[in-house]
Amino acid sequence: MVVDIVTIFPQMIEPALAEGVVGRARTSGLVDVRARDLRDYTSDRHRVVDDMPFGGGPGMVMKPEPLFRAIEEISAERGAPTAVILTTPQGRCFSHAEAVRFSRMERLIVICGRYEGVDERVAEALVTDEISIGDYVLTGGELAALVVVDAVVRLVPGVVGDDASVAADSFADGLLDYPHYTRPAEFRGMKVPDVLLSGHHAEIARWRRDEQLRRTKARRPDLIGRADLLRRERHEGD
Ligand code: ADE
Repeated sequence: MVVDIVTIFPQMIEPALAEGVVGRARTSGLVDVRARDLRDYTSDRHRVVDDMPFGGGPGMVMKPEPLFRAIEEISAERGAPTAVILTTPQGRCFSHAEAVRFSRMERLIVICGRYEGVDERVAEALVTDEISIGDYVLTGGELAALVVVDAVVRLVPGVVGDDASVAADSFADGLLDYPHYTRPAEFRGMKVPDVLLSGHHAEIARWRRDEQLRRTKARRPDLIGRADLLRRERHEGD
């Protein structure tokens, strides 16, 4: 998988991509993720990427020319992108399902929105997916782009060593994850639930499922209906 992240702050993106699971996936060649400085695609001396909004109002708008040039040059170098994502609070809310969809794509370009937003012609002509990571406003799309890329890259086959751990993730089956414990079995008077020490695999599986449901009902009741639906879809034809 090839991912290009177009940003005015590549130095905000690069260190995050060098660490952990994503860093390893890059050095092992499973994914090729690169930050691209939008100013490299300007043609004026001051490398200007923003301008005042037509019609007036506060803030600045990202100019179309550098973004068009960036997408065109990156496409020429890497091949046509499967999706061009724009991170913006105006986008569809990012989810596990969206992460799965993007993880099956060959080439992604992610544009980090800044200022009041991008010229609408960029959104109309270049962008395939406007994505928000939640109902709050960040100072820019860089952190959102990192969230999206992190969630997508870890779903690329081989990136997370243990496939079972990805399959058991929160949201993979529409429910939150169950509680996890490690040694010691008692810490400062707090005990690990007996069932986990029992060695009864079926009982442990039942306890974990019950905990998933209990947690999801308590913390995210909105997920319960969707989880039922997912389960029914999966068992269709059983
Ligand atoms: N840019 C600013 N806020 C954002 C958000 N919530 N999601 C995606 N991009 C953003």
